[in-house]
Amino acid sequence: MEEQVSKILKNALQEIEQAKELKILEDVKVKYLGKKGELTALLKMMGGLSNEERPKMGSLVNSAKSEIEEKLEVKEMSLQSEELAKKLESERIDVTLPATKARRGSKHPLNRVIEEIEDLFVSMGYDVVSGPELETDEYCFERLNLPKGHPARDMQDSFYISPEYLLRTQTSAVQARTMMANKEKTPIRVIVPGKTFRREDDATHSHQFNQVEGLVVDENISFADLKGTLEIFMKHMLGENTELRFRPSYFPFTEPSYEVDVSCFKCGGKGCNLCKQTGWIELLGAGIVHPNVLKMNGYDPEKYSGFAFGTGLDRLAMFKYGITDIRLLYGNDIRFLTQFDRKD
Ligand code: PHE
Repeated sequence: MEEQVSKILKNALQEIEQAKELKILEDVKVKYLGKKGELTALLKMMGGLSNEERPKMGSLVNSAKSEIEEKLEVKEMSLQSEELAKKLESERIDVTLPATKARRGSKHPLNRVIEEIEDLFVSMGYDVVSGPELETDEYCFERLNLPKGHPARDMQDSFYISPEYLLRTQTSAVQARTMMANKEKTPIRVIVPGKTFRREDDATHSHQFNQVEGLVVDENISFADLKGTLEIFMKHMLGENTELRFRPSYFPFTEPSYEVDVSCFKCGGKGCNLCKQTGWIELLGAGIVHPNVLKMNGYDPEKYSGFAFGTGLDRLAMFKYGITDIRLLYGNDIRFLTQFDRKD
């Protein structure tokens, strides 16, 4: 039996020594010290020994047991710290690595154009105002000298929600709103950037588009003021060499009315595919505020006069950035939008 004990002890110590993982060490522990362990089995046999042999063997087995326990503990601690070190190593974060870049959005080309226009006009003393996109027939047409049944209503194919309400077809509706809100107070100097809606849909027309309206009302406002203002506006947007051409036109809320062309900024007026070989690009509607409109909205046309203009922001953005299809502006395609990711 003595031999047995020393054999078990020798094997146990060897196996403990060789254990490379905590799990294996646990198995060794069970193998020798567990309920059905080899050393435990010896202890159980003590009952069958003689009275002289029992204490001797008892102390032998017990000292073997405590030696095994001690070694197990020491080994367990060293394996634990080894495994912890391994884990820490594998989970290490290198704080000196460059961070992954946060993805930044870019300004939409339409917003770029709007902001540029706002900055310019605010620097000339204008206010930036807005009005509702769901507009009444009254403000979109009637107060602009376009009574119900007026043939010029056919110029703008409209989305009516009810006989009284429609999606505004032009930011001109805010002309009437501004005058009604100010009533005889002058000067009025406003621009109105905003969404407008018409029943159109092709490469150069979208059912939703953007306009910017301009309105000035004061004493002694003349065509010279309109011309000078539009010249500053267009040169600022399209370049110093831009020239303007006023052609007589018709709008019910201005008299006289003009269609305003700018010299083609691609060919400088020589003629190219952009300007369809004419050298000119039609860009704005404008005119002197019609006396009826002044009167209807609270201003005495004998005392006050004004000018108004309106232009499509989409067209302006398209020309400025060389965009060929208006629908790109509303498609939300990230490949298109990131092209405008400049740092300014
Ligand atoms: N509202 C007109 C349009 O949408 C443009 C315009 C504005 C014309 C102001 C004259 C004065 O066609």
